Amino acid sequence: MQVFIAKDAAAAAVKAADIVEGVVRSRLRPRIGMATGSTMVGIYRSLVDRYQAGALSFSGTSVYLLDEYVGLEPRHPQAFRNVIRTGLADHVDLGDDAVFGPDGRAPDLEAEAWRYDQLVTKARIDIQLLGIGSNGHIAFNEPGTPFDEPSSVVALCEQTRSDNARFFDSIDDVPSLAITQGIGTILQAKKILLVALGKHKARPIRDALEGPVSVETPASAVQLHADVSVVVDREAASLLSTARPEG
Ligand code: GLP
Repeated sequence: MQVFIAKDAAAAAVKAADIVEGVVRSRLRPRIGMATGSTMVGIYRSLVDRYQAGALSFSGTSVYLLDEYVGLEPRHPQAFRNVIRTGLADHVDLGDDAVFGPDGRAPDLEAEAWRYDQLVTKARIDIQLLGIGSNGHIAFNEPGTPFDEPSSVVALCEQTRSDNARFFDSIDDVPSLAITQGIGTILQAKKILLVALGKHKARPIRDALEGPVSVETPASAVQLHADVSVVVDREAASLLSTARPEG
């Protein structure tokens, strides 16, 4: 596992975008697993800047969402598909048909989760971006989720709903269900890029990287993967015990 400590959030976004760019450049048909959340905003902005400067093309690239809320209109600003569209795809050479995600309004949600699981497995993701929840979740796999559970429909815990309430008018508007890639599905990606910013991520990052591999900290599953890069700012790195150079 490679851990990069950046001096601040802006430097972390650039470092993470460098890693994504490296993968995009090295593949003919790159397949990128994309996360949402505030941590990802600067990374996608940096990728857009590179495209607009003529330095990077996403031609041939496919994007696969990590998760999706259940029940939101496709054009709802917080529907993850829309977040990726407005934050990245609309500004680069990525058509709508190059972005795949679970349909959170499918009539049979369990069947939809399974369909998406198969799609992601078949795609063989080249790099999967991950944020981390304040309770150590990855995607929407909450503490206690078995690592081998496939993509599924999950109930969001109150901590996650309250963390994400800032994106909605009120906590009552935060969906209580989501479709998420399973941890095992995520670990099938050839490479994992975990990014965390801010003091509130220091504890979950320490638990994920230095704690036991445990379902109580879903992000600790990354310790089981052979190719993981972690990009954190100084605040998120502040509880790591191992001295690591800034990069
Ligand atoms: C949501 C997403 C996760 C993300 C997490 C952290 O719950 N499902 O994929 O990692 O939020 O978000 P943020 O980056 O806003 O802290």
